Amino acid sequence: MSEKLALEGGGPVRTKPLPQEWCGAHFMDHEEIDAVVRVCKSKTLFRYYGLDLQDEVSKLEHEFAAYIGTKYALAVSSGTAALQVALGALGVGPGDEVLIPGYFWVATVGAVVRSGAIPILVDCDDSFNMDPDDAARKITPRTKAILVVHMGGVIGRINDIVELARRHDLRVVEDCAQACGASQHGVKAGSLGDMAIFSFQMNKHMTSGEGGMVVTNDPHLYQRAFAVHDLGYPRSEAGRLIFDDPTSQLWGIGCRMSELTGAVARVQLRKLDRIVGAMRSAKNRIKQALSGVLTFREVLDPAGDGGSFLMTVFPTRAQSVKFVEALRAEGIVADKGGFYPVHMDQWGLHIYYNVASLVNKRGVSAVSPWDLAENRDSANVSYAKGACPRLDDLLGRTVLMCVASVLTDQDVDDIIKAYGKVAAAILE
Ligand SMILES: Cc1ncc(COP(=O)(O)O)c(C=O)c1O
Repeated sequence: MSEKLALEGGGPVRTKPLPQEWCGAHFMDHEEIDAVVRVCKSKTLFRYYGLDLQDEVSKLEHEFAAYIGTKYALAVSSGTAALQVALGALGVGPGDEVLIPGYFWVATVGAVVRSGAIPILVDCDDSFNMDPDDAARKITPRTKAILVVHMGGVIGRINDIVELARRHDLRVVEDCAQACGASQHGVKAGSLGDMAIFSFQMNKHMTSGEGGMVVTNDPHLYQRAFAVHDLGYPRSEAGRLIFDDPTSQLWGIGCRMSELTGAVARVQLRKLDRIVGAMRSAKNRIKQALSGVLTFREVLDPAGDGGSFLMTVFPTRAQSVKFVEALRAEGIVADKGGFYPVHMDQWGLHIYYNVASLVNKRGVSAVSPWDLAENRDSANVSYAKGACPRLDDLLGRTVLMCVASVLTDQDVDDIIKAYGKVAAAILE
């Protein structure tokens, strides 16, 4: 006989809300404040010149590249900008197809559309990430790149995808916006493909409010990325614009990082392993305590999990819907009207069929990529629900919970207790 649920008049597991999700922000203290003050005192907020340049952004790039394990890192103003820069560096444009997962963030697909290329949806596997077998089925002579997204800090079958790409001479871009500090069998997210992007927006593992990074091991791609992020041309070591390399004469989108952002991001980078470590150990403790009771999203290497989100998959949709309702009644809800736990049906612009401009094939200007003559052979593709049947099925019976970076042992115990209590009632 299961315990009476709070939803049905029983006592709730807890009454105090859980901390909100803002992973990196919870770890901010005098170090970030000091960094900002230092930059302000220098009166030099621009990264390339000024009264007393502190080189915060350039130091961040070196430290970030060393942390990820790539040769180059290029700081930019956001993850969205980083995606545009990476695709620009790769020369993605009209006539190209880019494979993307159906579970993403709207910025991922937006970068492809703004490049003038056609996004091609690939279904997921039990990791909720791109299924390499479906990716193989979606490759055509027009495919240029595979854009994988390590959603919620979890890396899927990336090695199979990289191998597939190598066989077909395609480039792999990793969208690590949600996976900064995650790894798989000791290899960091961001060092597995040809290029990778990161975001330092408010809701990311490390944050400077806004900000992003592009990383690569390829010097030519770095040069081109640099050109796109700045004025359309690369710069020499001495900071002079280089005008005589025709392969890097592009158009710049002016998404440089400011020294203020760089200074904060440097401090956050030093805290990143602690932030991710806290989320990962809380998540893995919850999963271990409930193993055999509930089914969670597949994580190939839990020791490298970014840890920020816990996804619980139910046999039926009805059970998953009731689980959210019952969990909230048990007091498992984030502070200040928190969004989590949430049924994945409500996960908005993370899901392909919720992006109206994708389903309706809209471009930025009057001409959309689907109308371009170069894309004639790709334009019939559909983005309506049903395009990724495995993902559609999983989303319809999955509950998402954020794992805050500052959960106490008591918070974790309460989450385990509430999950177990509700599971016993729902799955009996
Ligand atoms: C998977 C993914 N890609 C790209 C982005 C875009 O990053 P930003 O918000 O910094 O532009 C985000 C963040 O919101 C994201 O979650």
